[in-house]
Amino acid sequence: MKGKVLLTGGAGFIGSHTCVELLNAGYDVVVVDNYANSSPEALRRVKELTGKDFPVYQADVCDRAAMEKLFSEQPIEAAIHFAGLKAVGESVEKPLEYYRNNLDSTLTLVETMRAHGARKLVFSSSATVYAAASQSEMTEDLPTGCINPYGWTKYMIEQILRDVAFAGKDWSVALLRYFNPVGAHESGRIGEDPNGIPNNLMPRVMQNALGIIPVLGVFGDDYPTPDGTCIRDYIHVVDLAKGHVAALKYLEGFTGCDAINLGTGTGYSVLDILNTFEQANGVKLRYEIQPRRAGDAAACYANPEKAKRLLRWQAEKTLADMCRDAWRWQQMNPRGYNA
Ligand code: UD1
Repeated sequence: MKGKVLLTGGAGFIGSHTCVELLNAGYDVVVVDNYANSSPEALRRVKELTGKDFPVYQADVCDRAAMEKLFSEQPIEAAIHFAGLKAVGESVEKPLEYYRNNLDSTLTLVETMRAHGARKLVFSSSATVYAAASQSEMTEDLPTGCINPYGWTKYMIEQILRDVAFAGKDWSVALLRYFNPVGAHESGRIGEDPNGIPNNLMPRVMQNALGIIPVLGVFGDDYPTPDGTCIRDYIHVVDLAKGHVAALKYLEGFTGCDAINLGTGTGYSVLDILNTFEQANGVKLRYEIQPRRAGDAAACYANPEKAKRLLRWQAEKTLADMCRDAWRWQQMNPRGYNA
């Protein structure tokens, strides 16, 4: 690729790991982030890990003037759009903020790209766009539909990008549907640093191991799964990051818009996660069975064949790797980036 790759939200959990993999693969990157839910320290560490420097713009992707300035200063050829609000519960409380932020940032990014001749875009979508039907294994052509505003923003952005690629035949767009990203860089230098009390399982497991959450709730053990707890497709964030590098390569020879799952294809139950975490790290967790959480599907995992076929990518790391790397990061950075 001749030009640079812009990472919106590049200081975040998935963005920072993707930054490392892109730099290691020889790409020139530019990051824009408003640090609403991330820290500049993550980018400082990305530079230290890779030994490479790159421009960073502290700005909101909704800020048209700031984006215009960035695109006029940097030869951007492709963008990976990670930036966005992502807390499901909060999105139910503040739907307007979610729709305004996630849709506006995407429209501003795509309009600025159009004005500056950038036509390659990778979007951070989510397996949450699959309408929870009777199906557990998700293929990209299954019906979509959501149950919360966060999910609807992903769904709507997918539709917007499909329409953009249909209207302008020179666009190349990959909608990457992530399953459940966990783990951390194996150096322990970058990882997930959620604001406040986390909602997702793996950060909560680690807070339980640290004693911050005294008793971890397992939300439901009466699902129609082998051990009764929910099944998800947990994917190591470094595998996921490599999937973005593969997607960019794919876009070099593709025009149109394609939705592609990034998952391992293997589902694990909540109890599998807790047991593997304890074994891999030699720690004891304290948990109890609690009522089901509203909106949870019994099982959801990727059919990863499309990514294998089109991107020539597949996840390689094991669940034990995910548990070990997450815990290494947490122990080396008990207070995240704010130490
Ligand atoms: C959640 C979001 C999804 C979002 C994804 C990534 C919901 C309903 N879904 O996915 O839209 O794209 O995060 O951020 O919020 N669990 C426990 N105890 C806990 C926490 C979780 O048992 O303390 C269970 C849940 O019931 C679920 C599994 O662990 O079965 C995974 O939960 P979580 O990490 O929140 O991910 P998802 O719900 O799959």
